[in-house]
Amino acid sequence: MPSLERAPGMSTPKVFVTREYPSVGLNRLMQECETEVWPGPLPPSREVLLEKVKGCDGLLTMLSDKIDAELFDAAGSQLKVVSQYAVGVHNIDLEQAHNRAIAVGNTPGVLTDATADIAFALLISSARRMIEAHEAIQAGKWKTWEPLGYIGWDLVGKTIGIVGMGRIGYAMAKRCRGGWDMNVIYTSRHNKPDAEQNLQARRVEFDELLAESDFISVHTDLNAETEKMFNAQAFEKMKPNAIFINTARGGIHDQPALVHALKTGQIGAAGLDVTDPEPPALSDEILHLPNCIVAPHIGSATTKTRNEMAEIATDNLLNGLQGKPLRCEVK
Ligand code: DGY
Repeated sequence: MPSLERAPGMSTPKVFVTREYPSVGLNRLMQECETEVWPGPLPPSREVLLEKVKGCDGLLTMLSDKIDAELFDAAGSQLKVVSQYAVGVHNIDLEQAHNRAIAVGNTPGVLTDATADIAFALLISSARRMIEAHEAIQAGKWKTWEPLGYIGWDLVGKTIGIVGMGRIGYAMAKRCRGGWDMNVIYTSRHNKPDAEQNLQARRVEFDELLAESDFISVHTDLNAETEKMFNAQAFEKMKPNAIFINTARGGIHDQPALVHALKTGQIGAAGLDVTDPEPPALSDEILHLPNCIVAPHIGSATTKTRNEMAEIATDNLLNGLQGKPLRCEVK
């Protein structure tokens, strides 16, 4: 666990933490740095954020903060490190950071199982219409056992299409293959020998994945290539009973196109832990469809996972302040 070795004459580094943060990480920062934590339940406004970063040597950021050239200018040239309390860094302008020699850290690895569990929970809850059934009970509609009520889909032996066979994609595929005997197909930039050997997974083209999958689960990062890759054309190519699961980033699906696909029966159901925007307006149709379950981006929300993420993010920040390689650096 790194602590701050201060060179003679080095002043206490100044750090801004943009939201409340687990004490296992925060206490160490407080000991080593002049640390300010934004106390509100919501992120600071853009204006406040630009003010707070002024003169900081390090920033501990969340995925809801936009970290771009304007923010780097506002912080000043002493800024050495941005440590993100998440694995995804779509909110950070990496090119700008690298051009300015600002190190960027993230928290991969420790949230794999927690996120795969949420993906699977969304899949089985969508397939067996759990939320719809629960809401019907709350509305007083449970009068008797219904011979034809709430009929859902089986999972065993179906085909799961994994988009992005990284750590989390693999963990989701492992659940589907090991527990439910599904066939696994996937798209990825490269072949994944582990998945092919251990899970009998088969790498396919995107269009084949769309056409053959009974369920599709998204585990890729959001970038120029993946932005809105699930658009109207993609939903049209899916099976009419297909279930679409996204626990990665909302920007990967085109939300109005997804709403249309769900309303018109182009696909069967969806389970989302991420939306676009986040959160959606209360009036957004995505929140009011019987065949769509939405969770408030809770993939990594377990005590163990969030504490481990905080340990890594704090290590990243402390290392970056000393000009050392980060524990997990985004290149
Ligand atoms: C991440 O880490 O990127 C998740 O989306 C939030 O934990």
